[in-house]
Amino acid sequence: MAPIQERAVSDPRLLVGTRTSDDAGVYLLTEDTALVQTVDIITPVVDDPCDFGFIAAVNALSDIYAMGGRPLTALSFLAFEPCDLPNEKASEILTGALAALGEAGCTLVGGHTLEDPEIKFGLAVTGTVHPDRIVTNAGARDGDLIYLTKPLGTGIASTALKGEMVPDALLTEATLWMKTFNSEAAQAAVEAGATAMTDVTGFGLLGHLAEMCRGAALGAELDHSSIPLMGNIPEMINSGMVPAGAYDNIKFLDGMVYRGDHPDDLLIPLYDPQTSGGLLISVEPGRVESLEKILDSRNVFFSRIGKFTGKSKSINILS
Ligand code: CO
Ligand code: CO
Repeated sequence: MAPIQERAVSDPRLLVGTRTSDDAGVYLLTEDTALVQTVDIITPVVDDPCDFGFIAAVNALSDIYAMGGRPLTALSFLAFEPCDLPNEKASEILTGALAALGEAGCTLVGGHTLEDPEIKFGLAVTGTVHPDRIVTNAGARDGDLIYLTKPLGTGIASTALKGEMVPDALLTEATLWMKTFNSEAAQAAVEAGATAMTDVTGFGLLGHLAEMCRGAALGAELDHSSIPLMGNIPEMINSGMVPAGAYDNIKFLDGMVYRGDHPDDLLIPLYDPQTSGGLLISVEPGRVESLEKILDSRNVFFSRIGKFTGKSKSINILS
């Protein structure tokens, strides 16, 4: 969910609102059911319209999973220029989205299209969560360990695709990761009693970690060498295939991140805006073994990348 200015909303049923820039809003319906609502619209990250639709849906669903919720229904939104994008391509985007929603057990109940010179597609997704099982992005505690469940690099890969520089292997890898649901990782986190969770999207790893730090009034230490990247990412950075959004994120986080003696280029992936990125999961040290076991049993990729610490309110990149 995009950050919106803090608004004074006083409704006791609003369990998670805009204040903490969380993945989705959560609204209490009954004693044991809360609604989880989110909307996410993106521009094409791959050329194939069917893959793009699939990825846009996985990306939108992810915000429901990141709250510990289960998706139920979705509304689609498509903006396109009928002259540039023939109707069959538009329908392929929807086909891809429907395939993803089908896998997630989420029902498309409607949608809206709009004429626009730039293609955009996304979904508003509604799900449910038990009020006691909500995992916000703000619950981390001092000493909790931080896990990441997908390698970084989708923004750089899409930029290289647009620049006609992308190696086939990287395009295949990035597409595969963007089409990977966060449902299994999220369920593992809920089962293991994670203290906080969010998905890595437009603000990059460091931007979303910074939100977790702010929400918990903690700092974090990252072990640089344990942060997973997709293949070919360093050479793409050397070729200048860095999205403008990565530089926006660097500027936005200025003063919050201590980079040690890492040269800029090495840290760019940590600021790279991700589409359908992995989850950041915070778990107390005593639950680490249980989390790793459940992630393994669900065949979820993961890397332990650092920990939250009360020593500073900043993110320190070590090693
Ligand atoms: Co999110
Ligand atoms: Co390093």
